Amino acid sequence: MKLIAHRGASGTHPENTMAAFKAAWKAGVTAFEFDVQRAKDGTLVVVHDDTLERTGGDPRAVRDLTAAQLKALDAGSWFDATFRGERIPTLEEVAVAAPASCELQLEIKQADPVYEGIERDVLAFLDARPALKARTAVSSFHHDTLLSLRRLDAKVRIGLLPGKLPIDPSFALAAELSAESMHVNLERLTPEWSARAKAAGLKLYVYTIVKPEQAARAAALGADGVFSNFPDITVPS
Ligand code: G3P
Ligand code: CA
Repeated sequence: MKLIAHRGASGTHPENTMAAFKAAWKAGVTAFEFDVQRAKDGTLVVVHDDTLERTGGDPRAVRDLTAAQLKALDAGSWFDATFRGERIPTLEEVAVAAPASCELQLEIKQADPVYEGIERDVLAFLDARPALKARTAVSSFHHDTLLSLRRLDAKVRIGLLPGKLPIDPSFALAAELSAESMHVNLERLTPEWSARAKAAGLKLYVYTIVKPEQAARAAALGADGVFSNFPDITVPS
Protein backbone atom coordinates (compact mmCIF):
# COMPACT_ATOMS: atom_id res chain seq x y z
CA MET A 1 0.00 0.00 0.00
CA LYS A 2 1.26 3.45 -0.89
CA LEU A 3 2.28 5.77 1.94
CA ILE A 4 1.93 9.47 1.25
CA ALA A 5 3.73 11.66 3.79
CA HIS A 6 1.03 14.02 5.01
CA ARG A 7 2.31 17.62 5.24
CA GLY A 8 5.73 15.92 5.22
CA ALA A 9 6.79 14.00 8.32
CA SER A 10 4.34 16.12 10.27
CA GLY A 11 4.12 13.77 13.24
CA THR A 12 7.72 14.48 14.18
CA HIS A 13 8.41 17.83 12.48
CA PRO A 14 6.48 21.07 12.00
CA GLU A 15 4.01 20.41 9.17
CA ASN A 16 4.59 21.81 5.70
CA THR A 17 8.15 22.94 6.41
CA MET A 18 11.32 21.93 4.63
CA ALA A 19 12.35 20.07 7.81
CA ALA A 20 9.20 17.96 7.57
CA PHE A 21 9.60 17.32 3.85
CA LYS A 22 13.29 16.46 4.10
CA ALA A 23 12.57 14.00 6.91
CA ALA A 24 9.91 12.33 4.77
CA TRP A 25 12.20 12.13 1.76
CA LYS A 26 14.99 10.72 3.94
CA ALA A 27 12.59 8.05 5.16
CA GLY A 28 12.22 7.01 1.52
CA VAL A 29 8.60 7.87 0.81
CA THR A 30 7.49 7.67 -2.80
CA ALA A 31 4.86 10.42 -2.37
CA PHE A 32 4.25 13.42 -0.15
CA GLU A 33 1.38 15.82 0.40
CA PHE A 34 1.29 19.54 1.11
CA ASP A 35 -1.13 22.47 1.14
CA VAL A 36 -0.92 25.47 -1.16
CA GLN A 37 -2.28 29.00 -0.68
CA ARG A 38 -1.47 32.37 -2.23
CA ALA A 39 0.36 35.20 -0.51
CA LYS A 40 -0.57 38.86 -0.98
CA ASP A 41 2.08 39.33 -3.67
CA GLY A 42 0.84 36.30 -5.62
CA THR A 43 3.50 33.86 -4.50
CA LEU A 44 2.22 30.32 -3.99
CA VAL A 45 3.15 29.23 -0.49
CA VAL A 46 2.92 25.97 1.42
CA VAL A 47 0.83 26.30 4.55
CA HIS A 48 -2.33 24.60 5.81
CA ASP A 49 -4.47 27.06 7.77
CA ASP A 50 -5.79 30.28 6.27
CA THR A 51 -4.37 32.23 9.21
CA LEU A 52 -0.94 32.05 10.80
CA GLU A 53 -2.33 31.72 14.31
CA ARG A 54 -1.64 28.03 14.94
CA THR A 55 1.68 27.53 13.17
CA GLY A 56 3.16 31.02 13.03
CA GLY A 57 1.96 32.77 16.17
CA ASP A 58 0.33 35.54 14.15
CA PRO A 59 -3.44 35.96 13.81
CA ARG A 60 -3.25 37.51 10.36
CA ALA A 61 -4.44 35.71 7.24
CA VAL A 62 -1.96 34.14 4.82
CA ARG A 63 -3.51 36.15 1.98
CA ASP A 64 -2.82 39.45 3.76
CA LEU A 65 0.93 38.95 3.99
CA THR A 66 3.52 39.01 1.23
CA ALA A 67 5.87 36.07 0.82
CA ALA A 68 8.59 38.16 2.46
CA GLN A 69 6.36 38.86 5.44
CA LEU A 70 5.43 35.18 5.68
CA LYS A 71 9.10 34.29 5.56
CA ALA A 72 9.74 36.49 8.56
CA LEU A 73 7.57 34.24 10.72
CA ASP A 74 8.90 31.33 12.71
CA ALA A 75 7.01 28.27 11.47
CA GLY A 76 8.82 25.78 13.69
CA SER A 77 8.70 26.87 17.34
CA TRP A 78 5.00 26.14 17.76
CA PHE A 79 5.87 22.46 17.25
CA ASP A 80 9.08 22.32 19.27
CA ALA A 81 11.77 24.81 20.23
CA THR A 82 14.36 22.74 18.36
CA PHE A 83 12.67 23.78 15.10
CA ARG A 84 12.90 27.51 15.78
CA GLY A 85 13.71 29.32 12.55
CA GLU A 86 11.87 26.98 10.19
CA ARG A 87 10.09 29.04 7.54
CA ILE A 88 6.96 28.73 5.46
CA PRO A 89 8.27 27.43 2.14
CA THR A 90 7.14 28.58 -1.26
CA LEU A 91 5.74 26.02 -3.67
CA GLU A 92 8.84 26.56 -5.77
CA GLU A 93 11.18 25.77 -2.89
CA VAL A 94 9.37 22.53 -2.15
CA ALA A 95 9.10 21.49 -5.78
CA VAL A 96 12.76 22.20 -6.56
CA ALA A 97 13.98 20.25 -3.54
CA ALA A 98 11.72 17.21 -3.96
CA PRO A 99 13.45 14.04 -5.16
CA ALA A 100 12.81 13.37 -8.83
CA SER A 101 11.37 9.97 -7.93
CA CYS A 102 8.72 11.40 -5.61
CA GLU A 103 5.08 12.03 -6.44
CA LEU A 104 3.68 15.36 -5.27
CA GLN A 105 0.17 15.48 -3.84
CA LEU A 106 -0.56 19.21 -4.09
CA GLU A 107 -3.70 20.26 -2.23
CA ILE A 108 -5.12 23.68 -3.08
CA LYS A 109 -6.54 25.19 0.10
CA GLN A 110 -9.32 27.64 -0.51
CA ALA A 111 -10.21 30.42 1.88
CA ASP A 112 -13.15 32.78 2.34
CA PRO A 113 -13.33 34.62 0.00
CA VAL A 114 -11.73 32.19 -2.42
CA TYR A 115 -8.31 32.71 -3.94
CA GLU A 116 -9.71 33.79 -7.29
CA GLY A 117 -7.75 32.22 -10.15
CA ILE A 118 -5.42 30.13 -7.99
CA GLU A 119 -6.08 27.23 -10.38
CA ARG A 120 -4.49 29.28 -13.16
CA ASP A 121 -1.52 30.09 -10.95
CA VAL A 122 -0.95 26.45 -10.04
CA LEU A 123 -1.28 25.39 -13.67
CA ALA A 124 1.11 28.08 -14.83
CA PHE A 125 3.60 26.86 -12.25
CA LEU A 126 3.26 23.25 -13.39
CA ASP A 127 3.18 24.06 -17.10
CA ALA A 128 6.55 25.75 -16.76
CA ARG A 129 7.89 22.49 -15.31
CA PRO A 130 6.58 19.57 -17.43
CA ALA A 131 8.53 16.84 -15.62
CA LEU A 132 7.22 18.08 -12.29
CA LYS A 133 3.69 18.32 -13.65
CA ALA A 134 3.86 14.67 -14.70
CA ARG A 135 4.48 13.58 -11.12
CA THR A 136 2.05 15.98 -9.46
CA ALA A 137 -1.61 15.35 -8.64
CA VAL A 138 -3.74 18.32 -7.58
CA SER A 139 -6.53 17.92 -5.05
CA SER A 140 -8.91 20.17 -3.16
CA PHE A 141 -11.95 20.09 -0.91
CA HIS A 142 -13.16 23.04 -2.98
CA HIS A 143 -14.88 21.36 -5.88
CA ASP A 144 -15.44 24.45 -8.00
CA THR A 145 -11.68 24.91 -7.92
CA LEU A 146 -11.19 21.38 -9.26
CA LEU A 147 -13.85 21.85 -11.93
CA SER A 148 -12.18 25.04 -13.02
CA LEU A 149 -8.80 23.29 -13.06
CA ARG A 150 -10.19 20.59 -15.32
CA ARG A 151 -11.82 23.15 -17.64
CA LEU A 152 -8.46 24.85 -17.99
CA ASP A 153 -6.44 21.70 -18.50
CA ALA A 154 -7.67 18.38 -19.88
CA LYS A 155 -4.61 16.50 -18.70
CA VAL A 156 -3.63 17.74 -15.26
CA ARG A 157 -3.83 14.95 -12.70
CA ILE A 158 -6.68 15.49 -10.23
CA GLY A 159 -7.55 13.87 -6.92
CA LEU A 160 -10.96 14.51 -5.39
CA LEU A 161 -11.37 15.27 -1.69
CA PRO A 162 -15.11 14.75 -1.21
CA GLY A 163 -14.96 16.02 2.37
CA LYS A 164 -18.51 15.69 3.67
CA LEU A 165 -20.06 15.23 0.24
CA PRO A 166 -22.17 12.04 0.20
CA ILE A 167 -20.95 9.03 -1.75
CA ASP A 168 -23.48 10.15 -4.34
CA PRO A 169 -22.69 12.54 -5.96
CA SER A 170 -18.98 12.10 -5.10
CA PHE A 171 -18.41 9.48 -7.77
CA ALA A 172 -20.31 11.43 -10.40
CA LEU A 173 -18.13 14.43 -9.58
CA ALA A 174 -14.98 12.32 -9.83
CA ALA A 175 -16.12 11.17 -13.28
CA GLU A 176 -16.86 14.74 -14.35
CA LEU A 177 -13.37 15.72 -13.19
CA SER A 178 -11.73 12.69 -14.80
CA ALA A 179 -10.07 12.31 -11.43
CA GLU A 180 -7.46 9.63 -10.88
CA SER A 181 -7.96 9.28 -7.14
CA MET A 182 -10.49 9.73 -4.36
CA HIS A 183 -9.18 10.86 -0.97
CA VAL A 184 -11.47 9.82 1.87
CA ASN A 185 -11.34 10.37 5.62
CA LEU A 186 -10.82 7.10 7.49
CA GLU A 187 -13.89 7.89 9.58
CA ARG A 188 -16.05 7.85 6.45
CA LEU A 189 -14.46 4.84 4.80
CA THR A 190 -16.79 1.92 4.14
CA PRO A 191 -16.56 -1.06 1.78
CA GLU A 192 -18.91 0.81 -0.55
CA TRP A 193 -16.40 3.63 -1.08
CA SER A 194 -13.78 1.10 -1.97
CA ALA A 195 -16.02 -0.97 -4.25
CA ARG A 196 -17.21 2.15 -6.06
CA ALA A 197 -13.65 3.44 -6.42
CA LYS A 198 -12.48 0.16 -7.88
CA ALA A 199 -15.44 0.01 -10.27
CA ALA A 200 -14.65 3.56 -11.40
CA GLY A 201 -10.93 2.88 -11.81
CA LEU A 202 -10.06 5.39 -9.11
CA LYS A 203 -7.25 5.00 -6.60
CA LEU A 204 -8.58 5.23 -3.06
CA TYR A 205 -6.35 7.13 -0.65
CA VAL A 206 -7.30 7.47 3.00
CA TYR A 207 -6.40 10.17 5.55
CA THR A 208 -5.12 10.77 8.16
CA ILE A 209 -3.23 7.77 9.47
CA VAL A 210 -1.15 8.03 12.63
CA LYS A 211 -1.25 4.45 13.95
CA PRO A 212 -0.41 1.13 12.25
CA GLU A 213 -3.82 -0.24 13.21
CA GLN A 214 -5.47 2.59 11.28
CA ALA A 215 -3.38 1.69 8.23
CA ALA A 216 -4.41 -1.94 8.66
CA ARG A 217 -8.06 -0.89 8.86
CA ALA A 218 -7.75 1.24 5.73
CA ALA A 219 -6.09 -1.67 3.92
CA ALA A 220 -8.76 -4.11 5.05
CA LEU A 221 -11.38 -1.72 3.70
CA GLY A 222 -9.65 -1.65 0.32
CA ALA A 223 -7.50 1.48 0.37
CA ASP A 224 -4.74 1.75 -2.20
CA GLY A 225 -2.80 4.21 -0.09
CA VAL A 226 -2.80 6.30 3.06
CA PHE A 227 -1.81 9.81 3.99
CA SER A 228 0.25 9.47 7.16
CA ASN A 229 2.00 11.96 9.43
CA PHE A 230 4.59 9.26 10.12
CA PRO A 231 6.52 8.13 7.04
CA ASP A 232 8.12 5.30 9.02
CA ILE A 233 4.80 3.80 10.07
CA THR A 234 4.21 0.17 9.16
CA VAL A 235 1.60 -0.18 6.44
CA PRO A 236 0.36 -3.42 4.89
CA SER A 237 2.10 -4.18 1.60
O1 G3P B 1 -5.30 15.04 1.41
C1 G3P B 1 -5.64 14.56 2.67
C2 G3P B 1 -5.59 15.65 3.71
O2 G3P B 1 -4.48 16.45 3.49
C3 G3P B 1 -6.80 16.50 3.76
O3 G3P B 1 -6.98 17.14 4.97
O4 G3P B 1 -6.92 19.00 6.53
O5 G3P B 1 -4.97 17.56 6.34
O6 G3P B 1 -5.52 19.14 4.54
P1 G3P B 1 -6.05 18.26 5.60
CA1 CA C 1 -3.84 18.64 3.04
